[in-house]
Amino acid sequence: MKGRFIVLEGIDGCGKTTQLEHLVRWLPASGLMPDSAGLVQTREPGGTSLGRSVRELLLHTAADEAPAPIAELLLYSADRSQHVETLILPALERGDWVISDRFSGSTLAYQGYGRGLNRLLIDQLEQIATGGLQPDLTLLLELPLEESLRRRRGAAADRIEAEGQAFLGRVSEGFAEIAQHKGWFRVDAAAAPEGVSQALEQVLLEQLGG
Ligand code: TMP
Repeated sequence: MKGRFIVLEGIDGCGKTTQLEHLVRWLPASGLMPDSAGLVQTREPGGTSLGRSVRELLLHTAADEAPAPIAELLLYSADRSQHVETLILPALERGDWVISDRFSGSTLAYQGYGRGLNRLLIDQLEQIATGGLQPDLTLLLELPLEESLRRRRGAAADRIEAEGQAFLGRVSEGFAEIAQHKGWFRVDAAAAPEGVSQALEQVLLEQLGG
């Protein structure tokens, strides 16, 4: 694959989206990307047109129409399959760089650790949806659960965010374990946004430079 694939992960409220936008502005002038490479900013769920419909089904359905746990897992997998096949792989094959707000790690953290669904099933579905594609670099923005809840106080919660503190606690612990196991880079997201941005830039320069 000629391009590079970078993923940002973390619990809701960790500042991932703000940092992703920063990296999208910073990367083209960072000296890391070849002049000929474009940068594709994307996210899961909802990185494709089909995915945006799936995102609505996943996050904004009424409680009595909400997907059951396995249906939820399959919907995230369907979104990912479409995303990889029609957006991520073609971009990487062209030599472009792709930066995504969430990828497979979120399914393991939320549906695996959060919902307690079977890990083998999750691994199998990841393999089917990604065809084995792995990010070149995954950055985990780590924020204590209490701080995440504090930051999101007053904001409208989507269906997953509304799952409650115990669920999000399991997700948070899951992310920490996955990061250790998969060799993700962990960045302290409790710092001021400029400090978090600098820490992320540093990891990218160290890991993708030269
Ligand atoms: P976002 O708000 O960061 O875009 O993420 C949407 C929500 O979907 C967030 O609460 C995390 C959740 N999610 C999962 O539960 N499983 C997944 O595989 C992904 C990608 C997201």
